Amino acid sequence: MAKLIAVFNIKGGVGKTTTTVNLAYLAASYGYKTLIWDMDPQGAASFYFRVKDKVKGGLNGLLKSKKEVYQRIKGTDYRNLEILPADQSYRLMDQELRNARRKSARDVRNILKPLKDEYDVILVDCPPNLSESVAGLISGADFLLVPAIPTILSLRTVEQLFKFMNTSLKTRPETRIFFSQVEKRRAMHQEIIEKFILKNSDFAFHTLIPISSELEKMGVSLEPFPKTSPSHHITQLYQMLWEEIESELALTRPSILGFSS
Ligand SMILES: Nc1ncnc2c1ncn2[C@@H]1O[C@H](COP(=O)(O)OP(=O)(O)OP(=O)(O)O)[C@@H](O)[C@H]1O
Ligand SMILES: [Mg+2]
Repeated sequence: MAKLIAVFNIKGGVGKTTTTVNLAYLAASYGYKTLIWDMDPQGAASFYFRVKDKVKGGLNGLLKSKKEVYQRIKGTDYRNLEILPADQSYRLMDQELRNARRKSARDVRNILKPLKDEYDVILVDCPPNLSESVAGLISGADFLLVPAIPTILSLRTVEQLFKFMNTSLKTRPETRIFFSQVEKRRAMHQEIIEKFILKNSDFAFHTLIPISSELEKMGVSLEPFPKTSPSHHITQLYQMLWEEIESELALTRPSILGFSS
């Protein structure tokens, strides 16, 4: 039964897609059968895997049956890693889900339900807004990973998210935030991280991802960072981040086949 990991923050540009792409690649390379759902109509995760951000029949195509969802999954260049691409129709996801099911858009999790037996890990790259469907996805997830930049405003959105989860979600996944785009030399970053981790040690991972122009080059290479730079220290940090998730979810590696190619 796959573990469903939602990667989300209300704030845009904090590294949700970068994290999803790199962690999914690493998970697959460790032998986990891995699926990414690019739930963001911007289609950035699909772009990184050179997959067209188009789903046959749009969102409605995913609501038909298990078989129909399968048919819309695409392979990537990497072993064990598949992707359910983004589609423009996801922009109206709340509305379309309500129309299709005459129920709540929170039923979005039903789209992934039939896939749970087929994968070990499903990572969802969420769009940066707390829509009804994103809330539904989160409440049905096994784990919520929240990338955050160590700034006051970014942490404010994390607080808003936690407050929303506490007041509006019936079921809440295990949740961890981690800091990304960290500038070690900025005293303000250090201070915010230390304060946050001290106050929220139960909710914070210890791995910090630094700001790095190397990571931005993923947009040019269109390959996950650990693929192009397997021995880079940032790859090691993503490996540590994945290990923190493995530990929280009590995941055991299916094999030690090494990096996929
Ligand atoms: N650690 C980092 N250092 C430098 N640049 C980074 C880092 N992480 C991500 N970026 C860059 O920041 C930009 C935003 O990252 P990303 O697309 O992963 O964020 P996002 O949260 O998914 O954004 P959105 O909310 O728009 O979906 C991208 O150009 C990406 O290459
Ligand atoms: Mg994104």
